[in-house]
Amino acid sequence: MGNLRKLSGFGIMALVALAGCRQDMHDQPRFKPLAKSDFYADLRSAREPVEGTVARGQLHEDAYFYTGKVGNNPGDAMPFPVTEEVLARGQERYNIFCAPCHSRVGDGKGTVPVRGFPRQPPSYHIERLRQAPLGYFFDVMTNGFGIMSDYASQIPARDRWCIVAYIKALQLSQDATIADVPEGQTVPSAALRFELPGSGATLPVPVPAPAAAEESK
Ligand code: HEC
Repeated sequence: MGNLRKLSGFGIMALVALAGCRQDMHDQPRFKPLAKSDFYADLRSAREPVEGTVARGQLHEDAYFYTGKVGNNPGDAMPFPVTEEVLARGQERYNIFCAPCHSRVGDGKGTVPVRGFPRQPPSYHIERLRQAPLGYFFDVMTNGFGIMSDYASQIPARDRWCIVAYIKALQLSQDATIADVPEGQTVPSAALRFELPGSGATLPVPVPAPAAAEESK
């Protein structure tokens, strides 16, 4: 009996002692982001991921598709074939994301700069941008340019390429002459046809209707 009492007395002591080192989840040993740590030689608690780690959704194997660059320079090809569906998608995305500033015809006189955005974008139809390779436009959308912010998070890579194709189509349409119109067709009801780099087929250029172009001014 006496032994038992001694035992239970010990049990209570043990419980009290253990409660003293109670550890809740809100109080767990961890580093705050970017905190210093004396444990590692470089004093950084944040460690590099193990070599070869790929975060979910970030396996960007096709570098050109995600950067538009070959080495350090913008490339001049589409990473996938351009179809009418691609151009239509590009036109739709362009009109949503770019036309407010660049206007539906790409002359840079969109509503936003006309109403006081600090800088008016250059027209896509100036010689320098007409000569710019396709990857350049992809890069501007991906990383921004000057005071224009980037669109990498709003517009998925494939849609950015669709917009690139459409900008090229806009450039060709705005620079077209009557000689580019196929025999027996009238402008603008009949589409101009052109070939984009990387696409085997010739495609109709979706010429923005003058009314639509006016509307965005
Ligand atoms: C909020 C207004 C705004 C929107 C929206 C916008 N841009 Fe721009 N963009 C600008 C301005 C302003 C510049 C000029 C920036 C500068 O020179 O600092 C510019 C410049 C550019 C240039 C020219 C870069 C050069 O070399 O001169 C390209 C190409 C371009 N934008 C593409 C796009 C595309 C494609 C979209 C749609 C995904 C888009 N922009 C949406 C404002 C905008």
